[in-house]
Amino acid sequence: MTKGSQSHFLSNWNAELMSQILNIETPDGAGLTAEAPTPNGKRIYIETYGCQMNVSDTELMEGVLRRDGYVRALEPETADVILLNTCAIRDHAEARVLGRLSQLSYYKTKRPDMLLGVTGCMAKHLSEKLLDKLPYVDMVLGPDSYRRMGDIIREAADEPALDVRLDRDEDYLGMDPLRTEGTNAWITIMRGCDKFCTFCIVPYVRGRERSVGAEEIVRQAEQAAEEGFRQVTLLGQTVNSYRDGDTDFSDLLMALARVEGVRRIRFTSPHPSDFDQKFIDTMAAEPKICKYLHLPVQSGSDRVLAEMKRNYTVSDYLSLVERVRLAMPSIRLSTDVIVGFPGESADDFDETMKLVERVGFDFAFLFKYSEREGTAAHRQLADTVTEEEKAERLQAVIALQNRVSEAVNQEQIGKIEQVLVQGDARKGDGMAVGKTDGFKTVVFPRGNAVTNQFTDVRITGATMRTLSGEVVAVEQA
Ligand code: 5AD
Ligand code: SF4
Repeated sequence: MTKGSQSHFLSNWNAELMSQILNIETPDGAGLTAEAPTPNGKRIYIETYGCQMNVSDTELMEGVLRRDGYVRALEPETADVILLNTCAIRDHAEARVLGRLSQLSYYKTKRPDMLLGVTGCMAKHLSEKLLDKLPYVDMVLGPDSYRRMGDIIREAADEPALDVRLDRDEDYLGMDPLRTEGTNAWITIMRGCDKFCTFCIVPYVRGRERSVGAEEIVRQAEQAAEEGFRQVTLLGQTVNSYRDGDTDFSDLLMALARVEGVRRIRFTSPHPSDFDQKFIDTMAAEPKICKYLHLPVQSGSDRVLAEMKRNYTVSDYLSLVERVRLAMPSIRLSTDVIVGFPGESADDFDETMKLVERVGFDFAFLFKYSEREGTAAHRQLADTVTEEEKAERLQAVIALQNRVSEAVNQEQIGKIEQVLVQGDARKGDGMAVGKTDGFKTVVFPRGNAVTNQFTDVRITGATMRTLSGEVVAVEQA
């Protein structure tokens, strides 16, 4: 999850390349300076909230706007256009954005020409209400309107602009992203969702499921590899229901594994009810596919799972975990859990606790149920669990998962892991940070390890969040 991350982070290794694309200076490789003259002389600042797809969409918008002559501003103060790319999944996500919009409106008092916009899921969800209630918001753009962004911004200079139409035919072709992350290239392989889990707003704000053509995805991966990215992460709401004609998700993974220069393939998120043996076998057989699965379970109670319309039972889920572990003994697992879904009893919650303990996830995203207007749960089920109960249950499951995460991580001590080096660790002091194949964060004294290269690290310590280690061998580029 990115929580309000700013989109101008850039690590050293591709700073030079980016500076060529952007035609702007990168004085020390630590960030982009967006002061250089450009065809339209306008500066854009985008803040990203929510999931990885939003991070990827921000890169896409930056690509569109770059082609329209914009450059990035480093700070909102210096921007001509500020956009918040938003999430609607929980009430809390929307509340944060509303607060931030009010803060940013301050810059309009100093620079009345500055335009402030909302893009993404919350734009679709709240739509014209945003323009009606917040006089300082100039434009509201849903997830399928990014192709028209340049025009919409021009319109918004005269009067508030709204474009939240969902467009089944929008294939995002030709909207190449301006990639800003150091080692990983996000590639959206499908958009929207047809599952309609009863708690979830996504199908309403992102529309029906659409897969991107396999050829286009391979092209994007080839381009990313050429630009120096070692890893691609495929994005979609339910990636394992991907289909392009006869090409299913397993075929797509194999096609990507054949791309020279792509060393690691990740994806998020698969849906537990869409697994077939072919996919598990493909994943097990192909070394480039990382042995990590984010497998959202949501609840450990069959009754609640049925109410959520998840299409699997606890026993289906557990047998999936078993099959996956049998095929890939080194697989690392994470999950999403919602506590306090309407009607969740103390016993239901207990079942969730049991499942979390039993599976032993490496980590988990744990959420309180948040009622979303427009969903089936909102229409049909009363939000019965009190806020206090939700908070108590959340604390209990967090405490349990922390214990489980720490124990799982302790088991990694002594292993040698291949780590893709992402850059300097936040702590500094010559420490580097990277990810294992199983998506664990490792911090280690950098030694001669190079960012965006692989290095073998012996794991010497573990907390519930992070592994620490020492370099054993650095791969020669
Ligand atoms: N309330 C709480 N959590 C939710 N999620 C989706 N919708 C809601 C909601 N209404 C969680 C699910 C999903 C993750 C991305 O967000 O766990 O897997
Ligand atoms: Fe939402 Fe369910 Fe679709 Fe995931 S699968 S995006 S939880 S409706």
